[in-house]
Amino acid sequence: MSEWTPDARELADLELLLSGAYAPLNGFLASADVAEVIEHGRLADGTPWPDPITIALPDDIPVGARVTLSDPEGAAVAVMTVRERDGHHAAGPVEALDAPAYGPFARLRRTPEDVRKELPDGEILAVTMRGPLDSATLDDIAATAEELEAGVLLLPLVFGEGGPAVVRAALKASAALPGSSVVAVPLAPREDVEIDLELREHVARNYGATEHYAGPAPVVIPGPPHRRGLVVFFTGLSGSGKSTIARGLRDALLERGGRAVTYLDGDVVRRLLSAGLTFSREDRDHNIRRIGFVAAEVARHGGLAICAPIAPYAETREEVRAMAEEVGADFLLVHVSTPLEECERRDRKGLYARARAGLIPEFTGVSDPYEVPEDADLTLDTTGMSVDRAVSAVLNLLTSGGWIR
Ligand code: ADX
Repeated sequence: MSEWTPDARELADLELLLSGAYAPLNGFLASADVAEVIEHGRLADGTPWPDPITIALPDDIPVGARVTLSDPEGAAVAVMTVRERDGHHAAGPVEALDAPAYGPFARLRRTPEDVRKELPDGEILAVTMRGPLDSATLDDIAATAEELEAGVLLLPLVFGEGGPAVVRAALKASAALPGSSVVAVPLAPREDVEIDLELREHVARNYGATEHYAGPAPVVIPGPPHRRGLVVFFTGLSGSGKSTIARGLRDALLERGGRAVTYLDGDVVRRLLSAGLTFSREDRDHNIRRIGFVAAEVARHGGLAICAPIAPYAETREEVRAMAEEVGADFLLVHVSTPLEECERRDRKGLYARARAGLIPEFTGVSDPYEVPEDADLTLDTTGMSVDRAVSAVLNLLTSGGWIR
């Protein structure tokens, strides 16, 4: 049986399909349903449904296959039977496996069936929350519940980094609303506010709500840039000056103080983290993803990570940018654009001569591609440029964006 790890959004949808929170859906939608949902907000059979619930699977998984869907840590969550393929998208029903429940507040992730059994008779006011409730909102909810003589069910919608915080907010609100209960629901936000609300309402009804109160959208105030995590990612040919500038930047930042700096030196990475990897496209991609993973972990906690690999492929650099942004950090791409002729003239390690002589296969710039970035935040050709000037240019970028003061 094939195995596949869906992305975070797909896994969140999967959990809701399995729990019954998305009833009557019991699987990922077929293209006819997706088209109807997008056009008319209903399934092909006419049932109102606000949002297409889709999953992308690798192209080599055919119709009829049964696929084990696992979470990123490798726990098998469900088995999907593929009923339809449409490009990358696959449709078909899912069945739960006995995946161990873990993660913050796992005990609060209960199924609608389970919850409905315990609800008091009569009206139920469900409050879906994506952020904390202020005291005016709490009063409003308490008054509405009293007026309706309704029990209160708080549904913190957990997804991604902010998940635990919204559950804590719900537990705090629950303490102020006597008789209320809290159930965590992994409903990822939808971009379209209307669709998001409809989906929240639908899920709330499955949890037994007779009335739905949509908690206010959280006011996201990102911290100031000098407190946010930052990844400064240098890319360029071997010998272009990346490491020299990166080291100069690290030293300058350490001299100033005020930011925690990690320098992921290319050679150190290749010796430890990426030991044993070759220079094939696949291995280069692994190397860059590993660097991106570590840099994002540093940035997750507000640190500043400096990376300086060749990173010849645009798609992989893009992945690292996404990894940083996913943890709420910023990403700056610095293209050290020193031309090949100059890198080859310098040839500090004698590698270009050996590559030209055919002694090093797949050498970037000689016998392997380098995709010039189109999304660089700064481009530096170090031909005839002093190290100090190059480092100053990067420092200026960091200062002008407020990342350092
Ligand atoms: S990357 O492509 O995966 O980003 P990385 O920056 O880690 O490359 O390693 C590049 C360094 O490895 C070069 O500066 C050079 O010293 C050395 N090297 C050895 N073989 C190659 C090769 N085939 N292509 C490029 N660099 C190579």
